[in-house]
Amino acid sequence: MRPLSSPPENCRGRELDDLRYSAVTAKESMDLHRLRYLDKLRQFWDVDDLTELKFNRVDTLYGSDRTDQRFDVAADERVTWLLQGLYLPAQPRIAEIGCGIGAVLKRVLARYPDAEVWGLDISAAMITEATRLLGEGTRIHLELTQDDSLGTVPDRSIDLVICTGVFIHLLDIRVIRNYVREACPVLKPGGAFRFNARYWNPQLSFGNTLGGRMARFPYRVGWHSSLKRCNVSTVQADFNGLYFTLSEIETLTREAGLIPEQFTLLTEDVASAKGYVRVNCRKMGASDSDLRG
Ligand SMILES: C[S@@+](CC[C@H](N)C(=O)[O-])C[C@H]1O[C@@H](n2cnc3c(N)ncnc32)[C@H](O)[C@@H]1O
Repeated sequence: MRPLSSPPENCRGRELDDLRYSAVTAKESMDLHRLRYLDKLRQFWDVDDLTELKFNRVDTLYGSDRTDQRFDVAADERVTWLLQGLYLPAQPRIAEIGCGIGAVLKRVLARYPDAEVWGLDISAAMITEATRLLGEGTRIHLELTQDDSLGTVPDRSIDLVICTGVFIHLLDIRVIRNYVREACPVLKPGGAFRFNARYWNPQLSFGNTLGGRMARFPYRVGWHSSLKRCNVSTVQADFNGLYFTLSEIETLTREAGLIPEQFTLLTEDVASAKGYVRVNCRKMGASDSDLRG
């Protein structure tokens, strides 16, 4: 990679090339920040202790709640939503972004024993544990992600892409956007993508005082948006994540070539309308193009 501090020889003294050079280096530096952020994520999620992996990363259960039973109830509930209302073939092909210790894929395989599954995760410890839980077989592919791509998942082959509990812990929009964009090419036409994200409604999140209205204004006119790139160079990787409005989620999915079908709000804080949203979307299928004429 080119050093970021000085332009290459053939650019010196040429204004246009200098401008182009600054654009390239700005992009390189943003990419570098993204890759560094992914490294921080890798460290955060790579916990070398099964109890911590399970109860302090995949789920956050403390005290008397820290039981396998509580973990299983939550995982069962996630999978009920992930598979609800889908007409999958008897041997579906399913890919999960951020598969963790394999809790979701284990349940998917219990429902569809002949499924072929791909589980991708940024944490080696999670992949090791998922491999232990799911076993190895020709229809089970567990992969450590090197970046924010879908690795070896074949194009136009997948019936369902799943991503739950991952975007809610990401602060770099480029990583989220890359994953949403990657889902579309691997899906079969008409295939489904289900993910969750943090949700908020800025219109309800500030009071009606002058200060509240002023704070709301930049969101209302779109100056502030979670879809805008932000500098993550000093951001730590932890449980925090970006909050999206429903209209931002709609933009995020549509710009990736997906059709948003259903948003389900799980609102934690009624006063400020903050919480989580479950998003069901789909890649356009043959019947959609018929409808569009
Ligand atoms: C809260 S756990 C959820 C695990 C699983 N989806 C489930 O519902 O049981 C989040 C998982 O996402 C993984 N993860 C976090 N950031 C990621 C990234 N940028 N790319 C891939 N996996 C990521 C973590 O390592 C962790 O296994």
